[in-house]
Amino acid sequence: MSRTSGKNLFASKVGAVLAAAGSAVGLGNVWRFPTETGANGGAAFILIYIFFMFLLATPIMVTEFAIGRHGGSTVADSFHKMGGGRRGWKWMGLVPVVGGFLVLSYYSVVAGWTLHYFFEALKGGFMHKGAADYSLDFAAFSTDPVQPVIWTALIIIATCAIVVLGVQQGIERASRIMMPILFILLIVLAVCSLTLPNASQGLRFLFEPDFSKVTSSVVISAMGQALFSLSVGLGCLCTYACYFRKDTDLMKNGLSVAGIDTSVALLSGVIIFPAVYSIPNLQPDAGPSLVFITLPNVFQQVFGNVPFLAYISSLFFYLLLVLAALTSTISMLEMTAVYFHKKFNLSRLHSSTFVGTVCLLFGTFCSLSFGAWKDVTIFGLGFFDFFDFLVAKFIMPIGGMLMCVFLGWVVDEKVLRAEMTNNGTIRCPLYSIYRFIIRYLAPLCIMLVFANELGMFSFLK
Ligand code: ALA
Repeated sequence: MSRTSGKNLFASKVGAVLAAAGSAVGLGNVWRFPTETGANGGAAFILIYIFFMFLLATPIMVTEFAIGRHGGSTVADSFHKMGGGRRGWKWMGLVPVVGGFLVLSYYSVVAGWTLHYFFEALKGGFMHKGAADYSLDFAAFSTDPVQPVIWTALIIIATCAIVVLGVQQGIERASRIMMPILFILLIVLAVCSLTLPNASQGLRFLFEPDFSKVTSSVVISAMGQALFSLSVGLGCLCTYACYFRKDTDLMKNGLSVAGIDTSVALLSGVIIFPAVYSIPNLQPDAGPSLVFITLPNVFQQVFGNVPFLAYISSLFFYLLLVLAALTSTISMLEMTAVYFHKKFNLSRLHSSTFVGTVCLLFGTFCSLSFGAWKDVTIFGLGFFDFFDFLVAKFIMPIGGMLMCVFLGWVVDEKVLRAEMTNNGTIRCPLYSIYRFIIRYLAPLCIMLVFANELGMFSFLK
């Protein structure tokens, strides 16, 4: 398979960073991060998350970049090429296919909820309601057999439309427009949140660590969150990296994406926790419903006297969620669709439509698992939870570990060095640390976490 042609490369370095950041920044930052932070006790969790973000998830992301750009083709071909023709690693090309179908299927369901909530906010549907109403509304909507499926379908159609437009016209342009809007919205909402009564209590929850709350489950959740947040181990970033130009500095790109991703997660925390503490009797560990039940209530109660502010803050917030979700679903669809596009010579339209349709089918199962099919389980988990478990706790860590082993132990060191330094044309001062991490630290960390989860070894209570 030949190297990607010029018009299938990101047109600029900024476009490449924003597209990769768009893939990383998503519901994982604005929805999952506050949920996990709330459930795992706050600041200490965040510090461990940041540790994993820069010492584990970022090196894995750079590893994906190196494999993808070197190969310039499907993930399977990239592994084949970088491994010097070793056929044994070609099967890694199946990871983004399987992972892509699974992750897009359940992620689109939550993305669909955000789109529904955005339209509710637009209609003014949150005005003049009480806390109990939001809870009932969310329960009625998420368990409905039809409505959430329609919203999921709309998200998948929008994603397909962008992917069909191609790399520069679709992915790069969408990221260049959406990412700055997302940042502006985040900053505006964070400033609003900081002016709320008791905001300082929310900030203390976020930034004053209490290490007595750290257990093995907190450590595992922090690692899972860091990997999920950067979308590593699935091959998404390998796919995007084959659109990087040869003069893109992979390490700098990786650190920029990790920096943007972490800032978005922290800003989301700054929006959500001061808002939660501003209302008596609301708890930071309200779980996944935090942004769908708690937040509309917060906006109404806090800005109730100024209805326009209540209206505009919920509208902005759900717009933010939709944009964040879309920049990620684009990368998920792309990585799987590109496989069918290149492998079976399908047009981008046909391959995206095929992947989108299969994901909608699985997404329907996931959506139904909140209501009509809640008793249908696989290994004790409903479809949605099962897909999330497979992706976040299994495919991402194992995929990431295998990529590190491949690049750290299988690939000739000269090939790796040439890729990281762009054939000796740029300096890569962190190269030795990076190589140490992918050879030893990352595989060891992931194995320890798995051993702990399987009960073979316990490193904390
Ligand atoms: N990295 C994507 C997110 O954070 C999956 O939403």
